Amino acid sequence: MILDGKACSERRLELLREEIDESGLHPHLATVIAGSDTGSQMYVRMKHRVCEQVHIGSVGIELPADVTLDRVLGSIRQLNEDADIDGILVQLPLPAHIHADQVIRSVRTDKDVDGFHPYNLGLLLSGSPKFAPCTPKGIMTLLAENRIGVAGKHAVVVGRSIDVGRPMAALLTNADATVTVCHSKTRNLPDETRRADILVSSVGKAHVITADMVKKGAVVIDVGINQLKGKLVGDVDFAAVQDIASAITPVPGGVGPMTIATLMENTFLAAKLRTCDTVW
Ligand code: GUN
Repeated sequence: MILDGKACSERRLELLREEIDESGLHPHLATVIAGSDTGSQMYVRMKHRVCEQVHIGSVGIELPADVTLDRVLGSIRQLNEDADIDGILVQLPLPAHIHADQVIRSVRTDKDVDGFHPYNLGLLLSGSPKFAPCTPKGIMTLLAENRIGVAGKHAVVVGRSIDVGRPMAALLTNADATVTVCHSKTRNLPDETRRADILVSSVGKAHVITADMVKKGAVVIDVGINQLKGKLVGDVDFAAVQDIASAITPVPGGVGPMTIATLMENTFLAAKLRTCDTVW
């Protein structure tokens, strides 16, 4: 089975638009981008386009690559204080001279729709998340929408980043999976991945997950977006692994669209929580 994230995200966005229209709320997302990385600019443009599709208002703050930390923090302070803004997304990576941690920590926790603030990561670890990071949360949605159970399964997550690997492990643990997290210092990666009922790869290297690393019938989730010979490919050698896996996400059209749909859901959640804490 191909896990079609594009189709799943379109269904979710359609429902979300209806919910937003019926709520009477007018959620707003602010994005902050520094520098002129074309990939990041493309992602941010896409986020604004999807905002429009689901009737979420959006504003974009564009800062130059040589922006000072003070100026970035100043922009975020303004957005924190702006009553019209429900969610704030700081597009990563930031220029090397800007301390990303400090910027992430400056975002109000109730507007942190990316879920990267240590407070929100802490809620996730404690088992009661509010804003979970969009990529892993979107993967959980994709699994649920395809009726793929997680409880009792052995999940192996390759990668331990703050935006994907670690929150993915926490979400899977909260959903009663038995979780192994692998990383660059893992001794025998194929031995670990072959034990996975659910394998999530977020390494960022083309085709590092080969057919011999996957158990027959495993569910394979590919978070990687890599260029290989001018083509967009994932971490997983899709052509070889699709015959072994029971379900697999394609790249593109798998996890990526689910990330954006989840950002929209988190933004609406922020609007609901900010407007009426007790009712929702
Ligand atoms: N850069 C690449 N992916 C992401 C993401 O999900 N959120 C943010 N803020 N930046 C990113």
